[in-house]
Amino acid sequence: MLEIKEVYKTFNAGTVNEKRALNGLNLTLDDGDFVTVIGGNGAGKSTMLNIVSGAYTVDSGSITIDGQDVTGLPEHKRARFIGRVFQDPMMGTAATMQIEENLALAARRGQKRTLRPGITKAEREEYREMLKILDLGLEDRLTSKVGLLSGGQRQALTLLMATLKKPKLLLLDEHTAALDPKTAAKVLETTEKIVKRDKLTTLMITHNMRDAIAHGNRLIMLYDGRVVLDIAGEDKKHLTVEDLLEQFTKVSGSDEADDKLLLS
Ligand SMILES: Nc1ncnc2c1ncn2[C@@H]1O[C@H](COP(=O)(O)OP(=O)(O)O)[C@@H](O)[C@H]1O
Ligand SMILES: [Mg+2]
Repeated sequence: MLEIKEVYKTFNAGTVNEKRALNGLNLTLDDGDFVTVIGGNGAGKSTMLNIVSGAYTVDSGSITIDGQDVTGLPEHKRARFIGRVFQDPMMGTAATMQIEENLALAARRGQKRTLRPGITKAEREEYREMLKILDLGLEDRLTSKVGLLSGGQRQALTLLMATLKKPKLLLLDEHTAALDPKTAAKVLETTEKIVKRDKLTTLMITHNMRDAIAHGNRLIMLYDGRVVLDIAGEDKKHLTVEDLLEQFTKVSGSDEADDKLLLS
């Protein structure tokens, strides 16, 4: 479903701020893979998602989504394949619009849209059904303004909107990191439910190693712009936080557990 091949990406090339963020990155995802992504601060995790979504262009290498080479395709032309949720709960939804209006915008993505879409009764029923999976009672608050919701509720709604059109790829960049632990767990649980129900091919960045182990069928670790660990299936089921720390210590070449950035 996704193939990232030998991708290099350097920011501010030729200046004192030059930074190579991706360093020959290779990654192939099968249809339905749910991959959790860990790695220290600056490892290139967000950049990886950004070159997949088209937010950044690559310096060299290629990106293929569902058999189509999208390397030269601008972000808006990839958008219909891709659902994204970021860390900031304020980003994915429009605060001054109602819950149902937000859902209508997501449902009409890729179509010509009006600022305040008219919503039919049938659509309203559809949204009510959809919202039930969040288990937050939002199905009874269709006309509430999104700005009145809590961060966790908004993030759950963003997730619903990002997955509403069943994207070929779901990209989650620490989407629960700004939430309190209980709310984060709830949003993660909802993520798991939607990804499983729709068999979505998913990349989920997290700085929580426990979450990375508990979710998905595959786990990768990025270090210095490359995949340094890739564990799937039965092996992943038996992974422990200690294993991950040991691997991190190995690749980072530090002899003591330099793990603060990986730990949460
Ligand atoms: N837009 C940008 N401009 C300049 N440098 C960037 C930009 N985005 C990322 N970087 C740099 O690239 C490296 C990788 O960043 P990032 O992919 O955000 O890491 P991670 O998400 O793993 O913490 C870091 O050194 C970061 O400072
Ligand atoms: Mg990041």
